[in-house]
Amino acid sequence: TTYATILVEQRDRVGLITLNRPKALNALNTEVMNDVVAAAQVFDVDPSVGAIVITGSDRAFAAGADIKEMSEKDYSDMLSEQFFVGWDALAALRTPTIAAVNGYALGGGCELAMMCDMLIAGDSAVFGQPEINLGVIPGIGGSQRLTRAIGKAKAMDMILTGRQMKADEADRLGLVSRLVPADTMLEEALKVAAEIAGKSLVASSLAKEAVNRAFESGLLEGIRVERSLFYSAFATDDQSEGMAAFAEKRKPNFTHR
Ligand code: HXC
Repeated sequence: TTYATILVEQRDRVGLITLNRPKALNALNTEVMNDVVAAAQVFDVDPSVGAIVITGSDRAFAAGADIKEMSEKDYSDMLSEQFFVGWDALAALRTPTIAAVNGYALGGGCELAMMCDMLIAGDSAVFGQPEINLGVIPGIGGSQRLTRAIGKAKAMDMILTGRQMKADEADRLGLVSRLVPADTMLEEALKVAAEIAGKSLVASSLAKEAVNRAFESGLLEGIRVERSLFYSAFATDDQSEGMAAFAEKRKPNFTHR
């Protein structure tokens, strides 16, 4: 199968999915979500695949959910489309997943990276949850997974200010599994994936399930609350203004309504 927004290949027992919307810094629209989830699910049911690597480009893992797509939507669109609920299927895979990150992992990009079982970062990686600058909040688990990964103090800092966090700080705080030089990052990630894929797939899927259970207790409720709050941001003026300002390349003029 070929996909419009991603490249897919298998190297021995490792499935590799490369986000491929270079002109939009791999912004995650609905089509990307559907492609990534479909490709990952094909790998997931294939016993010849023992690990899945998801990567982007040197410049961007993914610069977030696609702001142009989201800016068209209102609260009832969000609700009726169950916008981005499809990503949940990625966190539900039994096969171990590794995010291989160089460059920007912002917004939904950071959330996608955190959804994977391991996060291997090149030293060029930059993490952030800049949704606040658009008048919205994280919507694919960021407020929950980031807080569990790096704690309330740092998560609040990132989510309230929208600041970017470089790879060395993210590594120090425990967001990152392994920090490696950017130019060998993908190679390293594929090596780790091959190592995992060389082990029992049954055991690795049980192991990740067990770790995730520890991580996720209480998480699902948080995700539901977050999603409904995220949707409700689309009932505000500041969301329309924040996204319009992005499109017009100007500073937003928020009215806090
Ligand atoms: C749509 C995007 C995009 C995005 C970048 N682009 N990010 N398009 N959605 N999230 C597009 C730009 O419009 C531009 O297209 C092209 O990619 C290159 O980006 P530039 O801004 O020109 O590059 P640069 O100056 O290097 O700045 C890089 C950047 C910046 C710092 C990453 O692009 C940026 O701030 N992007 C938005 C990051 C963001 O706010 N992400 C959170 C999204 S909200 P053109 O056509 O102009 O050349 C989110 C919600 C998650 O993720 C919850 C969902 C349920």
